[in-house]
Amino acid sequence: MGILDGKVAIVTGATSGIGAAIAAKFHAEGASVVLAGRRLEEGEKRAADLGERAVFVKADVTVEAEVSALVDEAVRRFGRLDIMVNNAGTPGNMTPVVDFDADVFARTMAVHVGGVLFGTKHAGRQMAAQRSGTIVNMASRVGKAAGYSGLDYSTAKAAVIHFTRTAAVDLGEYGVRVNSVSPDVVPTGIFGKGAGLDAAAADDTAAKVREAITPLLAKSQPIAEAVTVEDVAQAVLWFAQDGSRLVTGQDLGIDGGSSAGRPMHVGRAERAVFRDALA
Ligand SMILES: NC(=O)c1ccc[n+]([C@@H]2O[C@H](COP(=O)([O-])OP(=O)(O)OC[C@H]3O[C@@H](n4cnc5c(N)ncnc54)[C@H](OP(=O)(O)O)[C@@H]3O)[C@@H](O)[C@H]2O)c1
Repeated sequence: MGILDGKVAIVTGATSGIGAAIAAKFHAEGASVVLAGRRLEEGEKRAADLGERAVFVKADVTVEAEVSALVDEAVRRFGRLDIMVNNAGTPGNMTPVVDFDADVFARTMAVHVGGVLFGTKHAGRQMAAQRSGTIVNMASRVGKAAGYSGLDYSTAKAAVIHFTRTAAVDLGEYGVRVNSVSPDVVPTGIFGKGAGLDAAAADDTAAKVREAITPLLAKSQPIAEAVTVEDVAQAVLWFAQDGSRLVTGQDLGIDGGSSAGRPMHVGRAERAVFRDALA
């Protein structure tokens, strides 16, 4: 018996990283899962590895017709849609605002905000007709504080958090819930992609990212461990299941406490400087 027995889910951006982990978690909990992404071979392999109740559908989240067809295909295969995870994403760009290219900005917004809009719109029309369903959008810790990521990515993730509230209010009268999750740094291929590696090579760099990031977390996360794809999948699972049936319009940080405040030892060190100055 799984907590998602009988449910039907779509996960966008499921060809790697966090999305692949969410799809595997949902499948292990009994859901039928439609994995989506642009990489056909990678996606079909991941669906085949999961086995029965898993299929891959190629879809680019920036193309509305493809997202609409993705939802229709999930319903055609499995009869309904209970869970939509709008997870697909690309890296940001660390260019200063005075040099920022408008096309680059628009591309990032198209994936992160446009993709979430299309996913919510088309899952929402199916779920509203069913009068049930739950949508989880992938935001980020950097959507709540500046200076940690590119301004395009950070702005897009802030928009996802507020879009989630507005869509939750909109779809609430149909019994459809919409929430978001905001992880801090999760070692995945997204950083390698941001550094210019191709997708396959980037997916192999997660361990290196973990090694590089772990010593830095002591300055920012009260619990200074790198967030894992499994941590994010567990949080998304909670929003996806019926136990959270009255939770909507919320954003959940998965960040070792970094969005709540800084580690105590950082404040202690600062107070020591003041004490010494006043002594
Ligand atoms: N890693 C972190 O530190 C972190 C922290 C907070 C939030 N996030 C967010 O988590 C999500 C997943 O990122 P990740 O870290 O798991 O990185 P990842 O391994 O690079 O995964 C990104 C996924 O999005 C898909 N994708 C990208 N553009 C797409 C498009 N136009 N249409 C459809 N699919 C697209 C990719 O698949 P294809 O290449 O096959 O299309 C891939 O499956 C993103 O929204 C990211 O912003 C990540």
